[in-house]
Amino acid sequence: MNKKKLVFSGVQPTGNLHLGNYLGALRNFVSLQKEMECIYCVVDLHAITTFQDPSQLTNNVLETVASFLATGLNPEKSIIFNQSSVSAHTELAWILNCVSRIGWLNRMTQFKDKAGGEKEKASVGLYIYPNLMAADILLYKATHVPVGADQKQHLELSRDIAQKFNKDFKCKDFFPLPEPLIPKNVSRIMSLRDGTKKMSKSEESDYSRINLKDSADEISKKIKKAKSDSDTIPDNFKKLEDKPEALNLITIYSEVSKKDINKVMIEMSGKEYSFLKTKLAEILISEITPVGKEIRKLLEDKTHLRRILKKGKEKASIIAEENLKNIREKVGLL
Ligand code: TYM
Repeated sequence: MNKKKLVFSGVQPTGNLHLGNYLGALRNFVSLQKEMECIYCVVDLHAITTFQDPSQLTNNVLETVASFLATGLNPEKSIIFNQSSVSAHTELAWILNCVSRIGWLNRMTQFKDKAGGEKEKASVGLYIYPNLMAADILLYKATHVPVGADQKQHLELSRDIAQKFNKDFKCKDFFPLPEPLIPKNVSRIMSLRDGTKKMSKSEESDYSRINLKDSADEISKKIKKAKSDSDTIPDNFKKLEDKPEALNLITIYSEVSKKDINKVMIEMSGKEYSFLKTKLAEILISEITPVGKEIRKLLEDKTHLRRILKKGKEKASIIAEENLKNIREKVGLL
């Protein structure tokens, strides 16, 4: 049995990364690289399951790498590469397409959300996307996967696929069952305009999210305009259960300031939301704008970013090829 701990995670290069990506995933990526071997992948093949403008896609891949570095990933410690540069991902995805069940995919809520009422018109890639995600993880026999709560169901599917593969091919423990690492308090950062929807790159209004590249001015404006509540702030966050926008602002403030949420409630109790907003904007500006500045600086040297991807690809390929060889043997492919 593979007992070695290994972290794998991926981020789609579909434009501006935002505060949800940062608190739900990237910050965790950075702390994990101190303790374990980590592989972080820019999942370009996942991105093309919905149409991407080719020239923008290339830029978005490089910008995602720049965001990885700007938030603190170190390419000397972690493997950073783009998915399409290691073709073993798609080869394993095909094998796993034959292990995974249609009934399992039919239950995936993200497909239903993304395809909406236009299921018949969605790409086949979007439908089998979770199998490719399982391939990403299992290709490296990853044991831990840091993600936000929206990816939990996909992780469960990856575990089901791993288990079925191990059983079908009579190789108990061949694939470890990957553990999701989901942050407790910020597993789902919500939209600033609608607290029932997650903050996302695809929501039309830019006012719904804080982008890592936003200026201080933009952050201030977005927080000022964010939906909150006309009552004053209560003394307990449980009283905000039916006020998701207000709770979201409190949660973000607690997380970014690294103050326990109960302490935040004591600090804020009885005050207007405008008071919280001023504090929140200040703290976000000091945490996020240096990241944005660094992303811009890194984007000035695209050759450097491409070099990081190339080195990462070389390292990832060694692990991927070795594992794929064993997987092919298990399946009986010559
Ligand atoms: P993606 O690109 O949509 O998001 C990247 C990471 O950010 C997290 N995230 C959030 N966390 C908290 N609140 C939010 N509002 C929020 N929005 C996004 C996501 O959970 C994710 O961790 N399918 C994946 C990419 C992927 C992957 C993988 C991940 C492909 N293969 C293998 C892990 C392992 C996705 O679309 O993430």
